[in-house]
Amino acid sequence: MTGAAADRAVGWFAECYGAEPEGVWHAPGRVNLIGEHTDYNEGFVLPFALGQGVRAALSRRDDELLELRSRQVPASPVTAPLNKLAPGTVVGWAAYPAGAAWAVLEAGYPVAGTSIAIDADLESGAALSSSAALECATALALTELQGLSVPRPELAALARRAENEFAGVPTGIMDQSASLLCRAGHALLLDCRSGQSSDVPLDLEAAGLVLLVIDTRVRHALTDGRYAARRRACEDAARVLGVPSLRDVTDDPGAVERIADPLLRRRARHVVTENARVLETTRLLREGQTGRCGPLLTASHVSLRDDFEVSWPQADVAVEAAVTSGALGARMTGGGFGGSVIALAEAGQAEGVRAAASAAFATRGWPPPRFLDAQPSDGARRLR
Ligand code: GLA
Repeated sequence: MTGAAADRAVGWFAECYGAEPEGVWHAPGRVNLIGEHTDYNEGFVLPFALGQGVRAALSRRDDELLELRSRQVPASPVTAPLNKLAPGTVVGWAAYPAGAAWAVLEAGYPVAGTSIAIDADLESGAALSSSAALECATALALTELQGLSVPRPELAALARRAENEFAGVPTGIMDQSASLLCRAGHALLLDCRSGQSSDVPLDLEAAGLVLLVIDTRVRHALTDGRYAARRRACEDAARVLGVPSLRDVTDDPGAVERIADPLLRRRARHVVTENARVLETTRLLREGQTGRCGPLLTASHVSLRDDFEVSWPQADVAVEAAVTSGALGARMTGGGFGGSVIALAEAGQAEGVRAAASAAFATRGWPPPRFLDAQPSDGARRLR
């Protein structure tokens, strides 16, 4: 994909600025295999990078301006003086790349005036981390263009800062880490407390499996308050339990059942059981038992649906259709309230799963789901 994708980004840059860019960078979106709403509870996540993502083509310029143009939003170019960047000064799609430039500057790294042309093959709102890809492509490009080699975990933290403080979305560290740290053929086990990560083999083809992404076409926004409300509930539950974060309950899962408030109890139960499912999935993958991860994925979905209450009708129907048509397991992926479902299936069953999900949506009069065959791919890098 990268040759043609880089060509397209170069072409878009030339259309915008009438010249060749100095370089082109790519940052992928991600699928979270398992470990949902655990990152901001200092727990474990297991995402992998997609082949699809965001390209940033850029060149330095001889003034102090940041100019941003997106092939997907051509009618909304943004130009901003670098020294005036601050949260609130740029909104909409451009807040993510502008926020990345701001976070890089805030960390004390130099950023030159730059013209940036963005191109993506990842839908926004599909829970595949298009915004993190946008931040990571920009942060990596701006630093490498200056000859800097910022350690990837630090870059992930800067990209997250762009999202949290500049774009105002209170997410955890998972998406930016996945985009910057993942390796092809592997998922990334990340301990969100220590920041330690390791590659976990995820060779679907060798196992005769496919991981189907089912985009339910329901669009989510993590800015609408429901994501923040879940975070607050988790903090409240940790306070009730007298622990710094719900991560600390991992050794005593029975503790959550002693929370008196039923809502906080359910929220905490999801996080604690989900952390255990991440570690169990990791163990199975490391033992080469990929197919046996299916029931853990489905259990994660049930927990997100009933205890954490972030699922949505189309996701529940897609999971149900996938599992009853022979998938080994399925779950919603990402923050919830819209976006995509993933289904793990034997290669020979994939067509049946697709057909079952499409039929279930058609019966209900919903727009047909879109499908993507997810291949664990490399993290962000320079293409040219
Ligand atoms: C979004 C956030 C992540 C994470 C997930 C839920 O993708 O960006 O930090 O919290 O939701 O697991």
